[in-house]
Amino acid sequence: MRTIDWIDGAIEIIDQTALPDELTMLRLENFTELISAIQRLAVRGAPALGVAGAMGVALIAADPRYAGAEEPIRAAAKLLLEARPTAVNLSWGVKQALRELPRGSDAVLKRALEIRDTELANSLAMGARGRDFIKNLIRGPVNVMTICNTGGLAAVEYGTALSVVRSLFDDGALGTVLTLETRPLLQGARLTAWELKQLDIPFHLIVDSAGPFLLSRGGANVVLIGADRIAANGDTANKIGSYSLASAAARLGIPFIVVAPESTVDMSTSTGEEIEIEDRGSFEVTSFAGKRTAPEGAETINPAFDVTPVELITALVTESRVVRFGMGDSLAGL
Ligand code: MRU
Repeated sequence: MRTIDWIDGAIEIIDQTALPDELTMLRLENFTELISAIQRLAVRGAPALGVAGAMGVALIAADPRYAGAEEPIRAAAKLLLEARPTAVNLSWGVKQALRELPRGSDAVLKRALEIRDTELANSLAMGARGRDFIKNLIRGPVNVMTICNTGGLAAVEYGTALSVVRSLFDDGALGTVLTLETRPLLQGARLTAWELKQLDIPFHLIVDSAGPFLLSRGGANVVLIGADRIAANGDTANKIGSYSLASAAARLGIPFIVVAPESTVDMSTSTGEEIEIEDRGSFEVTSFAGKRTAPEGAETINPAFDVTPVELITALVTESRVVRFGMGDSLAGL
């Protein structure tokens, strides 16, 4: 089943807010519905957001209210592009589709469908490349620690880091997976654990703060994460908690590997310092399952992402290459 697709003139997504209890589809007929779905994380994960951005422009371009007029279409696309700031894939997908606008709405849709197909192929390529790289790095069973959700739900199918996990599993090289629950929205518990169960891949779910300690006790011999934006120098924005895992992994000499498509690399952002980090407000921090867990009026800081400095990253695996930052490789030449 695809996380996001274009069916009969509209976008259909798996409603990720309903998982793990229900697997339901949502049909998004216009871009305001899409923006709302993106903001409440019904569709989420960098590659899926890239496809959503491109398909969103296709929705706007085909909307009879705009009658093909470029200026209002571009204005609506700008609102879509700004729906979430950190994952560069969203703006990348919007911009890719907008390039086709002078050729008409059919050309925009064609590009959006190409992006969907390419992201799917990229997931498979990352899975195979990551598996081969890791099998050369680690002798014996590969025990993975991961955070957030980087599976098919974050892409079209298969995903990024979880695509590598799946390839290792299919190959018989996987030992087990430790997946962090990923406070506050629990993408690890609700989505990754659900996907791993569907795939019959052995795992343990752990609380976020147990990650570094369990690494120190040999719970995993590699950390695999996805990415929301990779700056030109390799600094990588990903779900909050990634930096703590990277710091612990570096201290322990455990490989820390980022798996992401080239569409997540943002060469126009020089370093991680320049990456805008989404703050998702108080509610997610002061409550749990809709119930208040902090005193009324407690002020919060709620960064949805952090930035792992490139010095802590062993390698980046994309669909087309392995960039071994730890061996002095750089992203230049893309
Ligand atoms: O806030 P989310 O759920 O959109 O955050 C997603 C992540 O941080 C993923 O790790 C990232 O998009 C890479 S996924 C393929």
